[in-house]
Amino acid sequence: MPVHVLDHPLAAHILTHLRDQTTKPATFRTLTYQLGLLLAIEATAEIETEAKTVETPLERVTGRVLTHQPLVVVPILRAGLGMVQPFTDIFPDVSVGYVGLERDHATAVARSYYCKLPPLTGCHVFIVDPMLATGGSAVQALDVVKSHGAVAPTLVCIVSAPEGVAEVEKHHPGTVIHTAALDRALNAKKYILPGLGDFGDRLYGT
Ligand code: PRP
Ligand code: URA
Repeated sequence: MPVHVLDHPLAAHILTHLRDQTTKPATFRTLTYQLGLLLAIEATAEIETEAKTVETPLERVTGRVLTHQPLVVVPILRAGLGMVQPFTDIFPDVSVGYVGLERDHATAVARSYYCKLPPLTGCHVFIVDPMLATGGSAVQALDVVKSHGAVAPTLVCIVSAPEGVAEVEKHHPGTVIHTAALDRALNAKKYILPGLGDFGDRLYGT
């Protein structure tokens, strides 16, 4: 499966501060936004462009502009919300859909509690969720966006575990994953090691 691990000194710097347990929610949110921007740029590197000729103050030149294929960003609530604004800031015409999933604390199995999606046929769809742990949430989100017409949606994460990557590959082979880190493993409670703890709790101070 194509897993792209973000390789940039600034991304490494931001990720280390996100991992640091002393980082407070306000700073955590800012760092999430900054890393989300780097990931958004990386994850959209292959979107289509077309030729456009413009006049500079000096002469005519043919450059490239984005085609009008619609982009849709789909955060997995709630932690995925922290990765929406990077997409909406750099792609003003992007649409936003929502998938609400929550892991049961005892079983780590995700339960669906909300879904609001625009039509996804013919769109570039980016599912954003900072943590890919068991992969259960990502697989459910991929199921639901595909059932709404998405073809080859991309998964954008901050920290991924090998177990989650394998689970996505098992159920949705060929899914492109962009992640800022591929960590070592899951612990007995299905948290990522070394990870950064509970992303949603740290993002929202809960
Ligand atoms: C976290 C995280 C992912 C999920 C990953 O969400 O944001 O959605 O766990 O775990 P998985 O790969 O094992 O499914 P959580 O369910 O804790 O909800 P929250 O975002 O509301 O905190
Ligand atoms: N969800 C989180 O927020 N962190 C983990 O390590 C695993 C799932």
